[in-house]
Amino acid sequence: MSSYRVQVLVGAQWGDEGKGRVVDVLARDIDVVVRFQGGANAGHTVVAGGRKHVFHLLPSGMLYPNRICIIGNGLVVDPEQLSNEIDELDPKPESIGTRLVVSYGAHIVMPYHKKLDLLAERARSDRGSSVIGTTGRGIGPCYVDKYNRSGIRAEDLVSRDILEKKLRDNLDEKNKIFEKIYDSEPFDFDELFKQALGWGEFLAPYLGDSTLEIDASLSAGKRVLFEGAQATLLDIDHGTYPFVTSSSCVSGGASIGGALGPGRFDRVIGVVKAYCTRVGEGPFPTEDLGETGEHLRQKGAEFGATTGRPRRCGWLDLVALNYAVKVNGMDTIALTKLDVLSGLSEIKVCAAYEIDGQKRSVFPSSAAIIGGARPIYSGLKGWDADISACRKFGDLPTEAREYVRFIEESTSVRVGLIGVGPGREDTVSIDF
Ligand code: IMP
Repeated sequence: MSSYRVQVLVGAQWGDEGKGRVVDVLARDIDVVVRFQGGANAGHTVVAGGRKHVFHLLPSGMLYPNRICIIGNGLVVDPEQLSNEIDELDPKPESIGTRLVVSYGAHIVMPYHKKLDLLAERARSDRGSSVIGTTGRGIGPCYVDKYNRSGIRAEDLVSRDILEKKLRDNLDEKNKIFEKIYDSEPFDFDELFKQALGWGEFLAPYLGDSTLEIDASLSAGKRVLFEGAQATLLDIDHGTYPFVTSSSCVSGGASIGGALGPGRFDRVIGVVKAYCTRVGEGPFPTEDLGETGEHLRQKGAEFGATTGRPRRCGWLDLVALNYAVKVNGMDTIALTKLDVLSGLSEIKVCAAYEIDGQKRSVFPSSAAIIGGARPIYSGLKGWDADISACRKFGDLPTEAREYVRFIEESTSVRVGLIGVGPGREDTVSIDF
């Protein structure tokens, strides 16, 4: 059992690094798992007992008995999606009513947010502006309302009068937007109010104060893991803006959206895929549109867990990774999908960018500049062997070990866990 009591786990690239399966490994030694940002745009895949589970809102720790799973105040929750996810859990986790806590302060994704998300994307496309390629789950518009202080919070769904007033105010504004800007159908208040009251009934048994819950857990000596969704380069402040999601995906987000002071965190784990992928639009310097990209997509089954979209694929980008190391204060790397690189004679790693004829090893803040960056690669030897049965670092072929060491040396961060296959047991743990 590791000595870390409070840990944060974040994606170090553009998402889909395999965070769910790393949480699943860690959850063996953890009592409480807290999601701290995002919403049903996430898709955390865990393969357990030969079955594939995809979690969008539920913390991945839900598969373990007795774990308390918290949906923090930093999330935007689609109650219908959450209800479906709970229904689909098979076998149904025991005592889910006491194990799952939805923060009173989490915001609710309403149907008008989803519609606004889609209409805004279409409008961006129509006027020739940059499309973001959102998941269409209403995430951005819901966070807009949160920061506009007009959002509906989970606690409002169980307070009839407050809900009625907030919903009327919101529809008053939103319906004008739908009719006057988008020439689209408005929402009917009575219908939506009834639906929202139903969501309140469904959510009521799970609602709680996540701050107190986490504090009480720590006082009782429990171990807490903060589970990030999306990833560093999709972070609203630190990602490749505007091609980002609308929440704080970096480790600091755990403090705000998960409700714990930063001094309490013992370790930050960055989940790094052995290569890079991205879904949606935005700069991606190492994207490979040729054979290598296709190889990685097919072998790595790189299709979105939420939208089914094919992911853009390319080599590992150390410039971007070193930036993620700094932004998150990363202590340990969990390296996933190393097995996908098996069978390649050469493995390339982007060690620097060429920008306007200059070599640069610092990740630029501007998406436009990153978009013009040309990757400068170092080549490492590949390996042929199937590594999925490896369980110790020494079991890996020399070239695979060299690849891991190269990442450690280039980032000055130790690799503590290596994913060598999709199953729950398919990992090499190095003092994780
Ligand atoms: P949104 O979060 O739906 O607003 O989408 C904003 C951007 O983040 C788009 O490029 C999405 O493809 C991307 N995105 C959102 N969630 C995920 C995720 O879980 N994995 C990878 N990309 C994501």
